Amino acid sequence: MESQRSGTSGLGSEPYRAAVIGAGYWGPNLVRNFRESPHWDLVAVCDLEEGRARKVIGARSTVEVETSIETLLARDDIDAVAIATPARTHAPIALAALEAGRHVLVEKPLAHTPEAAATMVRAAAEADRVLMIDHTYCYTPAVQYIRKTLQDGVLGDVLYVDSVRINLGLVQPDVDVFWDLAPHDLSILDFILPCGLRPQTVSATGSDPLGAGKACVGYLSMPLLSGGIAHVNVNWLSPTKIRQFVIGGSKRTLVWDDLQPQQRVAVFDRGVDLATQARDARQREAATVSYRLGDITVPALPEREALSAMVAEFAGAISGQRVPLTDGAAGLRVLSVLQAVSTSLADGGAPSAPVDDFETTIREVEAFAFGQAPLVNGPAVQP
Ligand SMILES: NC(=O)c1ccc[n+]([C@@H]2O[C@H](COP(=O)([O-])OP(=O)(O)OC[C@H]3O[C@@H](n4cnc5c(N)ncnc54)[C@H](O)[C@@H]3O)[C@@H](O)[C@H]2O)c1
Repeated sequence: MESQRSGTSGLGSEPYRAAVIGAGYWGPNLVRNFRESPHWDLVAVCDLEEGRARKVIGARSTVEVETSIETLLARDDIDAVAIATPARTHAPIALAALEAGRHVLVEKPLAHTPEAAATMVRAAAEADRVLMIDHTYCYTPAVQYIRKTLQDGVLGDVLYVDSVRINLGLVQPDVDVFWDLAPHDLSILDFILPCGLRPQTVSATGSDPLGAGKACVGYLSMPLLSGGIAHVNVNWLSPTKIRQFVIGGSKRTLVWDDLQPQQRVAVFDRGVDLATQARDARQREAATVSYRLGDITVPALPEREALSAMVAEFAGAISGQRVPLTDGAAGLRVLSVLQAVSTSLADGGAPSAPVDDFETTIREVEAFAFGQAPLVNGPAVQP
């Protein structure tokens, strides 16, 4: 079976051929973006419920409908699949697709457990296929700007990150508020921090004031490798919606408010001048704290859909035989931190270390993948 065209680039004359699996709430967004992308031909949509797949492709479409993964993967005209099914099904579907020689894009979370995710990451490396995760926020102009700002040293050393993601949310039947909302914050941290998401420990506390049987309000904090600290507040019970991300640096402070389209990102040339800070009690008596009150920069960010950049990156990783910006290892890092969150929560907020085994898997795979060094700081993508 020929599963990949020879000589195609996805960025050259012949687009890659994709199938989207899962046509529920999120799948149609992938379908639309694969269809609109010059890098892709959407060949098929697969859903156990045929009506859903038919509805998403619309009338008089040349895109075909499949209702079985086996039949889909037996086709010889598909280079890659994108999986938008419930999290529990990600690992079995992705493993079958990798075994059939397909490149795989998986919706977040990569899997329902870090163990399953580690199996997927290993399988992709062994099959020499791209395994990419759709951490959608990482493909927004705001997050790409933040990543570049940090890489360029505009903020200086990261002293703290404070993320607030609160709103009146649905109490999910199967996961608590950390597993529902914090993957967004963790995947963003993994993407923007020059060292990625590699906390030594995580501490989490939560509360369940409604008696839902799970945390509905959550706070997690983790020391950063750089010496700073990151704090994330997630909450399903807030009548006020807040999406605010503050990065305090030794030179400048960046504030990202995703609900303010006119001024999503602002960089404040303000802060405490650390050079004049006293180091001990004796010096403190003599020292005066100095505050800088400089300009505020508001960058003009392009308005474009994150998913169009995401599908372009998927094609670029395949054609370039490189690790995608959000690879399987990134998905695994997020899951291993979430597991440490659950352990800490059960232990009354005591610091918990993400499991070493997963980090080992990540390092092995990063060393193995395409024989290259990990692209922790790969280039920003354009759709
Ligand atoms: N990136 C984002 O911002 C974002 C947003 C929402 C959801 N998601 C993710 O997308 C995924 C899907 O979520 P959803 O809300 O669309 O779920 P959903 O339940 O609305 O849809 C899932 C679809 O998958 C189909 N399906 C299930 N098992 C299948 C199988 N074995 N073969 C073929 N089809 C199968 C179902 O019939 C259903 O139509 C989840 O992983 C979710 O976390 C991501």
